[in-house]
Amino acid sequence: MAKIGTSSRVAAAIVAVLGFVLSLAVVCNGGKTSSFVRKVEKTVDMPLDSDVFKVPPGYNAPQQVHITQGDQLGKAVLVSWVTVEEPGSNTVLYWSAYSKKQKSEGKVTTYKFYNYTSGYIHHTTIRNLKFNTKYYYVVGIGHTERQFWFITPPEVGPDVPYTFGLIGDLGQSFDSNKTLTHYELNPQKGQAVLFVGDLSYADNYPNHDNVRWDTWGRFTERSVAYQPWIWTAGNHEIDFAPEIGETKPFKPYTHRYHVPYKASGSTAPFWYSIKRASAYIIVLSSYSAYGKYTPQYKWLEQELPKVNRSETPWLIVLMHSPWYNSYNYHYMEGETMRVMYEPWFVKYKVDVVFAGHVHAYERSERISNVAYNIVNGICIPVKDQSAPVYITIGDGGNLEGLATNMTEPQPAYSAYREASFGHATFDIKNRTHAYYGWHRNQDGYAVTADSMWFFNRYYHPVDDSTSAQ
Ligand SMILES: *[C@@H]1O[C@H](CO)[C@@H](O)[C@H](O)[C@H]1NC(C)=O
Ligand SMILES: *[C@@H]1O[C@H](CO)[C@@H](O)[C@H](O)[C@H]1NC(C)=O
Ligand SMILES: *[C@@H]1O[C@H](CO)[C@@H](O)[C@H](O)[C@H]1NC(C)=O
Ligand SMILES: *[C@@H]1O[C@H](CO)[C@@H](O)[C@H](O)[C@H]1NC(C)=O
Ligand SMILES: *[C@@H]1O[C@H](CO)[C@@H](O)[C@H](O)[C@H]1NC(C)=O
Ligand SMILES: [Fe+2]
Repeated sequence: MAKIGTSSRVAAAIVAVLGFVLSLAVVCNGGKTSSFVRKVEKTVDMPLDSDVFKVPPGYNAPQQVHITQGDQLGKAVLVSWVTVEEPGSNTVLYWSAYSKKQKSEGKVTTYKFYNYTSGYIHHTTIRNLKFNTKYYYVVGIGHTERQFWFITPPEVGPDVPYTFGLIGDLGQSFDSNKTLTHYELNPQKGQAVLFVGDLSYADNYPNHDNVRWDTWGRFTERSVAYQPWIWTAGNHEIDFAPEIGETKPFKPYTHRYHVPYKASGSTAPFWYSIKRASAYIIVLSSYSAYGKYTPQYKWLEQELPKVNRSETPWLIVLMHSPWYNSYNYHYMEGETMRVMYEPWFVKYKVDVVFAGHVHAYERSERISNVAYNIVNGICIPVKDQSAPVYITIGDGGNLEGLATNMTEPQPAYSAYREASFGHATFDIKNRTHAYYGWHRNQDGYAVTADSMWFFNRYYHPVDDSTSAQ
């Protein structure tokens, strides 16, 4: 009797476990793999004589003009440009409707890469700007002057609306040009770009032909001279080429694209943070040491507790190599960094992580995978309302083409994936709501192919999952 009782209890337990496994299986259905069918054509770089690469006319005319945030708060703008004939002036002349003309002085640098010699690269920071103000600025003083403008962000505060654009792995192909055009004409109107790494792809040319860094600078000027792009370093920025004697990683990138890393206590330009409107943006480097005791680790450990969500409710992280990626390209490349930092992202309730690297689009559910301790076997991502959404936006359109081969079946954590080129916008409305939309290049400018209302993890941490359950 007792024996039968035991075995029937065992049977009941087995049924219960089976039921649990079955219900898990239901929960574990993946999200959506888009059935969108695009024209398959080769992605090719725009030729050197393309309209977008035109050198501006005039003696020593500034070219490749680009701006980024120049401090941690948004009261400074870092202006960079290149002159070719001679160094010329480092002065930026600037004014607003409410202020007289002022000048700021910067520095000039050059570098050599194999048999390439750069132009004169100028970096000048303009400080003490007024928030939420349109400024005009002129570079090329003394030779050919060129005028541009930008609008400073509103003062940092919890309910300040702000729209970020998201672009990654852009390159300089005809598709890259389409992505940039779609971003410019998107009625959502991005005010600053969060760029998740891989800029010019010059390293795909013989000897990393740095002329392709110059053409990329001229191609993107039409946007980045007027609104800041926030830079993240990707693998195509490393330019490590010992076979031609180039052994200093990131040489072209660090000479051309400066970031305000010192303002956030960072010791290298590859990891840093800025505040902009209601967002706190942390930029990490997939290609700098991130293990315990490394400079990046120590910086991030001290950085996360500094984020004051009452001031900046939206905590956004940028990196190049994604932690959650269900394509058969760069599969698990982000894994070691995920193991190091994911518990912190959950603890500090990061809202969203944007990455690039994989040349396609993917959005995850809010999931974490932080329970594994070598011996317990708990190593499957689980839904977690304290965890960020992970978005791969490496679909800018570079010459390497699309990543189309996906792991099957679609993992449970993957909410939406599609192999198309495009960009996204993250439109913060207030401290609780942000509207996120992904745009593919084949659609009209106002169309979102994937979208989600983000609920802030600090002020409104309710389930914002887009899946059916
Ligand atoms: C650099 O070297 C390559 C071949 O090694 C050559 O094709 C190219 O013209 C050279 N460029 C310059 C600027 O000398
Ligand atoms: C790039 O896009 C711009 C804006 O749509 C267009 O004027 C230009 O002709 C394009 N250039 C190339 C080479 O596709
Ligand atoms: C966080 O920011 C709020 C709003 O600006 C401020 O009142 C508060 O003192 C800050 N907290 C800390 C710990 O700095
Ligand atoms: C997709 O990737 C998998 C894993 O790398 C590989 O086995 C398979 O052959 C690939 N399929 C295609 C169509 O390339
Ligand atoms: C925040 O924005 C959302 C979306 O626009 C809106 O529904 C909500 O009412 C806003 N909250 C407040 C307090 O205004
Ligand atoms: Fe990459």
